[in-house]
Amino acid sequence: MCGIFGQIAAGAVSNTVKALKYLEYRGYDSAGLALRRGDCLEMYKTEGRIATLERIVDGIDEATVAIGHTRWATHGAVSTANAHPFLSEDGNFAIVHNGIIENYRELKALLPQVKFTSQTDSETVAHLLRQNYRGDVLQTVLTTARMLKGSFAIAVLSVYGDKLYAVRNKSPLVVGFSSNGAYLCSDIRCISHWATSVAVAPDNAVAEIGKNGAKFFRLDGTPVDVKFFAPPRAEETESFEGDFMLKEIFEIPAKLRQAKRNYVERGGLSLDADTVRRLKRIYLIGCGTAYHSGLAVAAVARKFIDADVIPVVASEFIYDNYPVDGDTLAFLISQSGETADTVRAAERVTESGGLTYAVTNTDSSSLTFKCDNCVNICADGEFAVASTKAYNCQIAVLTMLFADIALLRGTLSAKKHNAIFREIDGLPFAVEQILDESYRIAQLAEEVAHSSAVFFIGRTTDYPTACEGSLKLKEISYIHSEAYPAGELKHGTLALMERSVTVVAISTDPALRDKMISSVNEVTSRGARVIAFAPYAMEGVDTFELPPTGELLYAATACVPLQLLAYYAAKSLGRDVDKPRHLAKSVTVE
Ligand code: F6R
Repeated sequence: MCGIFGQIAAGAVSNTVKALKYLEYRGYDSAGLALRRGDCLEMYKTEGRIATLERIVDGIDEATVAIGHTRWATHGAVSTANAHPFLSEDGNFAIVHNGIIENYRELKALLPQVKFTSQTDSETVAHLLRQNYRGDVLQTVLTTARMLKGSFAIAVLSVYGDKLYAVRNKSPLVVGFSSNGAYLCSDIRCISHWATSVAVAPDNAVAEIGKNGAKFFRLDGTPVDVKFFAPPRAEETESFEGDFMLKEIFEIPAKLRQAKRNYVERGGLSLDADTVRRLKRIYLIGCGTAYHSGLAVAAVARKFIDADVIPVVASEFIYDNYPVDGDTLAFLISQSGETADTVRAAERVTESGGLTYAVTNTDSSSLTFKCDNCVNICADGEFAVASTKAYNCQIAVLTMLFADIALLRGTLSAKKHNAIFREIDGLPFAVEQILDESYRIAQLAEEVAHSSAVFFIGRTTDYPTACEGSLKLKEISYIHSEAYPAGELKHGTLALMERSVTVVAISTDPALRDKMISSVNEVTSRGARVIAFAPYAMEGVDTFELPPTGELLYAATACVPLQLLAYYAAKSLGRDVDKPRHLAKSVTVE
């Protein structure tokens, strides 16, 4: 989703381009930057890739103040006119914006004399700044910020002085410094390429950023204190040539080891026994892939936990009437820790007196600040927009959390608890065996790529794997795909089975093997082709044999061949696997 960067330091243009390249992983459709040269602001923007912007600004590097943006369209089509930055009509203010200005129509009505150049909500902010300017930029930004409703991180550059201004409400924004200068960004890992000390801007606040320091203000103008800290190290991505998605799938074994080590070293669950014994219900809340990891772990946790274990899509949880009280624990699962729906769900749990626990890949994210507890899944940065290794680590960490909960509640013996932790140790080896056979998946993917539709089917604990396999395939290959509980096919969907359709059948539970074979027969007899993923050979169909994994943990391994299947099918169709169309990471709007 949109990313912003700003800086006051030498090399403003090249650094901004570098930062925007780092932010590419969030998904975007256009990009731009504004800089100050002499007493004037200049603006450069384009639809498409950062590489195009880089060519446009090639040779301009004397600027020391700049702001930049990657846009993921929400208001108005993908076009250069709708790309950020936006300039006020007099050219004295430039802004970039991440989020949504919900009341932009009313605000536009206050500016009848202005000729808008775009269809965006964001442009309104630039014109309001001009209208509100009375000689003091800080007061202008504060006055303007008080008029805005919605979620936003906005960076403001003006011709009046060398400072940058930032406004934050709900969308991520960090401010940082090094001996070279000052920076702001929507991504803490990105800013750490330059800043050695960073602070997360508070909600409903304005930052006035000079080269050597920043002041933060509440919207009424009163100062607010923030804490600076050393940011997490930034991964180098520039020198890597190849597909990040494939690289990240091949990192899964190492990241699973890291996730287990970190979980044990931090002392496991870290909740007191009385609290855990009192719990009546435990929610697993997330979006997309993160929701699927909750779905997967809920399916196994129900086997050994006596509380209600309820996986819910975050955007549904916010507006539905799921009960929450003092006996409720909610795991908020989010790779980025910035997904707006998941952050709002955490707020809803807190407001109703429940306990929140963030399971993220990003310390110092909005979610970790909102939640009572947090654990890092230690998957490290994902630069492909489609999530892969975070999913495996989420499953491993959530399984350990539930095993610890069950041990404290006495519904899991110490012996079975130890067995689960040993199974976690075995996961990396099982994944390595799958990766060694990736050439076989590449062959299977050729047929998938030429299917008119792909259905992923599984029962109980395999159904979440089907959901994740289907999501991966559709988001990067654009082939229509759906996930179905295998037993549900006969209630309507069999109508779609024909020769051009592929069915991917996942079957890891020996108790349900015969039922899965029946489901497979139902589709093959209607002409569909089946590819099976199971720890045994399935008669009459192409089977990729999964290495045996503990019964409770197949979800963490069975998804790997499906991640590869999606990758190879997308490659075969010539798709841009790392930057698929319309897909955003860090979805910071509801
Ligand atoms: C799928 C994907 C998305 C994210 C979802 C939640 O490959 O990347 O479905 O999983 O937007 O993102 P996080 O985990 O950052 O909250």
